[in-house]
Amino acid sequence: MCGVVGYTGIKQASAWLLDGLQTLEYRGYDSAGIQVVSPSGNLHGVKCAGRVTTLRERASVANLNGTCGIGHTRWATHGAPTDRNAHPHLDCSGRIAVVHNGIIENFQELRRELMIAGHEFRSETDSEVIAHLVEEAWAGPARGDVARAVRNATDRLEGSWALAVVCADLPGTLVCTRNGSPLVVASTDDGAYAASDIMPLASVTSHVLQLQDRDVATLSPDGSIEICDRDGRPVAHPPSIDIDWDASAARLGGYSDFMAKEISEQPEAIERLLAGRLGKHGIELDELSLTREELSAIDRVVIIACGTSYHVGLTAKVAIERWARVPVQVEYASEFNYNEDVLVTEHTMCVVITQSGETADTLTAARRMRGMGCNVFAITNVLGSTAARESDGTLYIQAGPEVAVASTKAYTAQMVAAFLLALRLALAKGLMSPAEVEKHFHGLELLPGLMREVLSRRWQDKQAARLFRGKVSSLFLGRNVSSATAYEGALKLKEISYLHAEAHPAGEMKHGPIALLEPGFPVVAVVPADHVRDKTVSNIMECIARGATVVGVATDGDEQVAKLCQEVLWVPACPDPLLVPAIAVIHLQLLARYVARDRGFDVDKPRNLAKSVTVE
Ligand code: M6R
Repeated sequence: MCGVVGYTGIKQASAWLLDGLQTLEYRGYDSAGIQVVSPSGNLHGVKCAGRVTTLRERASVANLNGTCGIGHTRWATHGAPTDRNAHPHLDCSGRIAVVHNGIIENFQELRRELMIAGHEFRSETDSEVIAHLVEEAWAGPARGDVARAVRNATDRLEGSWALAVVCADLPGTLVCTRNGSPLVVASTDDGAYAASDIMPLASVTSHVLQLQDRDVATLSPDGSIEICDRDGRPVAHPPSIDIDWDASAARLGGYSDFMAKEISEQPEAIERLLAGRLGKHGIELDELSLTREELSAIDRVVIIACGTSYHVGLTAKVAIERWARVPVQVEYASEFNYNEDVLVTEHTMCVVITQSGETADTLTAARRMRGMGCNVFAITNVLGSTAARESDGTLYIQAGPEVAVASTKAYTAQMVAAFLLALRLALAKGLMSPAEVEKHFHGLELLPGLMREVLSRRWQDKQAARLFRGKVSSLFLGRNVSSATAYEGALKLKEISYLHAEAHPAGEMKHGPIALLEPGFPVVAVVPADHVRDKTVSNIMECIARGATVVGVATDGDEQVAKLCQEVLWVPACPDPLLVPAIAVIHLQLLARYVARDRGFDVDKPRNLAKSVTVE
């Protein structure tokens, strides 16, 4: 969702601001803009609905001379994606510019008040009130002190924000603050930088600071960063976060799109995650902040997540219940937040699964669980993310930057992380001996090789994608652990191809979804060789009897499925059927990508979607 960048230093600001916004494109947006302060003390900017490439074209013919500035990619919440609603927003005098990520919940009342006081609004956004509030403070006791004006303004706000503010009267001063929405800052030899996440900063530094909620940072052209709390008292810098991947990790490197690159990176991601995890006494998972005794006493696990990460949770439930015999409840964070309190005891463990570590609903749910006294364990990809900082323990999946909006490598890496947790729990509970754990671990170690095999079969997905031509809807089916794979396959297809797809546990089909079927209707059935295979084969037959076109995802050598299905996406035999979702899903990722490309869509930046959903 919205991306914020800021720079002050010795270089021309606009070039880096535009590059920074390009790097943040993956977060999802529908308009963009930049504003720089000229050496003579004036603000100059361009903004537009649409892509950063359009913004670049406009910037190339505008006078954007200045070494301090801010930029923004907007994902519309209040007001349509138009030029006027694009950020930065200016105060009435046109001398203060603000970019904002988040939602100002009390903006209507503030806007009314400010209009009565004579302020003129130019947009329909909630964010514009911030520019006028800073203006009010600047006109009063905060004159000459941008940080103070920003503090006074944010004292009036309810909601979430990451802000970057510049003022023409103090060229060179960049002020940033946050509450709930992510924002990192960095000091370098050529100036100081701010951004919504580390991606745009990876090309200029390897250390960033994540601002604490409500702290206000003043960035200066010499690269210095002063941080004060909400009362203006200086505070120490938070520990710096090391960016442990080089900037090229966030580049295409020969691939046509990031989704293709990230799908291909899955074997290496799993290898990295598993490296060093098998110790003398079983699984090494020091990230858990629980002793062996505390772990063995866990009698319930509550998993909280959204979207693709929720589907990881569904797979994790089967693994934890099977291996560790602990009942697992999997909750959509967005729903969980409005349910009655769940019964939490000191033996309940909360697992939050979030690639970005910044999903607003997931963070709210995790805080709620912590508030109830629950130990919270985060499985996440992004170093220093809010989920990581606020949890009792964090397991980083180390998948590297995931740029495509449709999550792929994070899905399988999070799944393997959950498998490790399940094995660790089983060991602590004495349900598996170290030797048995080791055997399962060796099963996990086979996954990268099996994934490479599936990747080499991508022609099957390309071929199957043709069956979706001219179709408007499809059904994904799977049983037991494969139902989660079916959900994930349908989500991938919807996200990037804009074709309707719905998923159901295969046995549920007869209770309603079967009514959708008609000749040629596409059904994707995940039917690997496991204890429920025969039941799913019966469901495939029911589909075929109604004329549906079935694509099977089946284990090598399954001749019956080969005869029944129009196309088969073959997965190699896996020593443990529980691990099949980690390889079967790769076919569904590839299938979705081929269908989307066949329909001519940009698979990395699907319409309406944001990579990191930072508003509830
Ligand atoms: O960063 P998170 O894992 O918390 O994100 C959760 C969902 O927003 C995310 O998985 C979303 O569903 C993806 N676009 C799926 O591809």
